[in-house]
Amino acid sequence: MNSNPYSQHNLLAELFPPDDPIDEVDRPQEPAVQAAQVLPTKTVVKRKPAPAKEKAAAGTPEARPVAAPGTPVARKPPSPPDPPATPAPAPWQERGSYRVLGQIVAVVNQKGGVGKTTSTINLGAALAEQGSRVLLVDFDPQGALSVGLGLNPNEIEVSVYDLLLDRTVGLKDVVTPSKVPGLDLVPSNIDLSAAEVVLVSEVAREQLLKRCLEPAQAIYDYVLIDCPPSLGLLTVNALTAANSVIIPLECEYFALRGMALLMDTVGKVQERLNPELQVMGIVATMLEARTIHGREVLSRVGEAFGEKLFKTVIHKTIKFSEGSVAGVPILAYAPSSNGAQEYRDLAREVMDRAS
Ligand SMILES: Nc1ncnc2c1ncn2[C@@H]1O[C@H](COP(=O)(O)OP(=O)(O)O)[C@@H](O)[C@H]1O
Ligand SMILES: [Mg+2]
Repeated sequence: MNSNPYSQHNLLAELFPPDDPIDEVDRPQEPAVQAAQVLPTKTVVKRKPAPAKEKAAAGTPEARPVAAPGTPVARKPPSPPDPPATPAPAPWQERGSYRVLGQIVAVVNQKGGVGKTTSTINLGAALAEQGSRVLLVDFDPQGALSVGLGLNPNEIEVSVYDLLLDRTVGLKDVVTPSKVPGLDLVPSNIDLSAAEVVLVSEVAREQLLKRCLEPAQAIYDYVLIDCPPSLGLLTVNALTAANSVIIPLECEYFALRGMALLMDTVGKVQERLNPELQVMGIVATMLEARTIHGREVLSRVGEAFGEKLFKTVIHKTIKFSEGSVAGVPILAYAPSSNGAQEYRDLAREVMDRAS
C-alpha cells in the first residue's frame, strides 16, 4: 500500500511552490499577495518530510486535474511576460472566470451522530468535484473527519490544536492534501480536547480560529468546519470564524430537541462576536423514506424552518459508513450512488446560497 496516499494531489505544493509568487486571478492582486505573506513559515514544528515524488507529482498535469488537458501547471513563466494588463493567470484559472469565494461555513449541531462529519466530508468533496477549492477543518477532538479522509490520528504531528495555540504554527504547516483533487484538510486528534480548557485563559479566546483561517479565505472557495458535538468554546470559535452555518438534522423523533438552544447560541455569537453570521441552511440527514415516521419528522422540520431547510434531503444508506472505513468520501467510494448524488445536489444549493 502506498504509505503516502496524498502524494498524487499535493495542492499545497502548487499553492505555495518554494520560490513562486502566488498568482491572483479576477481579484485585485492585494489579497493573494497578502495570503502568501501572511502564511507564516514555521520553523519549530515540522510536518513529516514529504516524499520526493510528492513534489514531482505536483508538477505533473495529473496533480492539477482542473487544469485544461495539455496545459502544464505554470511554475515559472517560460519567459518574462509583457507587462500584463491583468495579473498572470493562476494554474487553476483555466476552468473559467475563477474567483476565490472565501466562504467559511461551520457545520454545527451539538448533538452527536447527526451527520456533521459525513456532511462536511461529502459536501466538501462535491464542491471540489464541481471545481471549487475546498478546505475542511476538523474541529472535533474525536478526529472523525481526519480518519474519514484516511489519516491515522497517531501520525498527525501538527494539528488544528497547534494552529490554534502555537503562534509559530501557520495554516501552511497544518494543511494536508486529501486524495480528492481540490480538497485539503486541517487535521485534528485528541490533543484538541485540551483546547477547550486552555482556551479559557487566552486573550480573545473566541477569535483564535478566525485569525488562523483568515489566510485561507484568499485561497479557498469554501472552508468547511466540522464542529464537535457541543456548544462550548470550540464551537463558539467556529461560529465566530464563519460567514454562515449549516445545521445537519437527523430525521428522527427528537430531531428538533436542542435546536432552540443552538439557534440561541448562533444568535448570541451574531450579537456579540460576528454580526455577519448567517444560518445558510438546515440539511435533513439519514431519512428513511420508507417509514411514515421519517417523512413526518421531515415535514415538521419543514414547518419549523421553512426556506432555511435545504430541498436536498440525505437518505440513510450504509454506503456512508463503508466510505469512511475506506478513508474516502462517498463521492469517491460509490460515485454513482444515491448518497453521492444527494451531496452533489446539496453542493449546488450551497453554491447558490453562498454566492
Ligand atoms: N445518510 C446516512 N446514512 C447512513 N449512515 C450515515 C449517514 N450519515 C452519517 N451516517 C453514519 O452515522 C454515524 C454518525 O455520523 P457523523 O457524520 O459522524 O455524525 P456527527 O459528526 O454529527 O457525529 C456515522 O457512523 C456515519 O457513517
Ligand atoms: Mg462528527
